[in-house]
Amino acid sequence: MARRKKVYEGKAKILYEGPEPGTLVQYFKDDATAFNAQKKDVIDGKGVLNNRLSEFFMTGLTQIGVPTHFIKRLNMREQLIRSVEIIPLEVIVRNYAAGTMSQRLGLEEGTQLPRPIIEFCLKDDALGDPLVAEEHILAFGWASQQDLDDMIALALRVNDFMSGCMFAVGIKLVDFKIEIGRVWEGEFQRLIIADEISPDSCRLWDMETGQRLDKDVFRRDLGNLADAYTEVARRLGVLPSNVTHTTKPTLIN
Ligand code: CDP
Repeated sequence: MARRKKVYEGKAKILYEGPEPGTLVQYFKDDATAFNAQKKDVIDGKGVLNNRLSEFFMTGLTQIGVPTHFIKRLNMREQLIRSVEIIPLEVIVRNYAAGTMSQRLGLEEGTQLPRPIIEFCLKDDALGDPLVAEEHILAFGWASQQDLDDMIALALRVNDFMSGCMFAVGIKLVDFKIEIGRVWEGEFQRLIIADEISPDSCRLWDMETGQRLDKDVFRRDLGNLADAYTEVARRLGVLPSNVTHTTKPTLIN
C-alpha cells in the first residue's frame, strides 16, 4: 500500500492525509501521557477502545444535531474525519469539582457545582495549557465573541448528551475536555466538535462506588487503564458483555 502522508503526530493520535480533499484519517495510538507528557506509557488496546468510544459519542451527537468532524470508522484504530481549522483552545466543562479546579479553588473532589462551569485553556504544551479568560481570548483574537457563544452552546449540548449517556449506565460525568474546529461552507463558517471524546479526556466515576473509569487511573496509578476503558465500553454496549480481558478487545460491528 502506498505510504500515506503524515500531517500531524500528537501524544495519543496521528493524522494522515485523507482519501479526498477536506478529509483526514485519525489514527489512535496506545500511548498514554499525563502531566504534560512527563508521565508516559503504552497501554495495550487503549487506541482501539478510544477509536470505538469516540465513534460512539460522535455518532450519537450527530444524531441529536450536534455537528462533529466524524465521518466513519475505517478499522480498529482509524477513523475518517473532516479536516477543520482547530480553535487553539481546550474547552473544559465541569459538573463536579476535580483535578486542577479542586486544587485552584480548594474544593473537595466530587463536590457538585451549582451549574456546569465552562473553562478555556490555551492549547500550548510548552506553557502547560494555561487557563485563560474570555478577555484574553477576545483580546488576542484566538476566537471571536460569536465563536465563544457558539463554543459555549456546543459544549453545553455535549455535556447534556454525555451526562445522559453516562447516567444511563451508572457513571457520573465529572468533567471533560473538547476541542472545536472551524469549517467553511461557501462563504459561511461554522464550528463543529473535533479531536476525540473518550475516557482520555473525561472524568468518569462509577455512581455507586466512585471507582475511576478514566485517565486518572493512569495519572494516579489506580490500576489497569485498559480495564477501566473496557468497562466503560462494555456498559455502553460498545463491547460485548462477556469480554473479561483487555489486551485484545473484541469489537462488535
Ligand atoms: O486533568 P487535569 O487534572 O490535569 O486538568 P483538569 O483541568 O482538572 O481537567 C479537566 C478535564 O479535562 C479532565 O477530564 C481532563 O481529563 C481533561 N483534560 C484533557 O483531556 N486534556 C487536557 N490537556 C487537560 C484536561
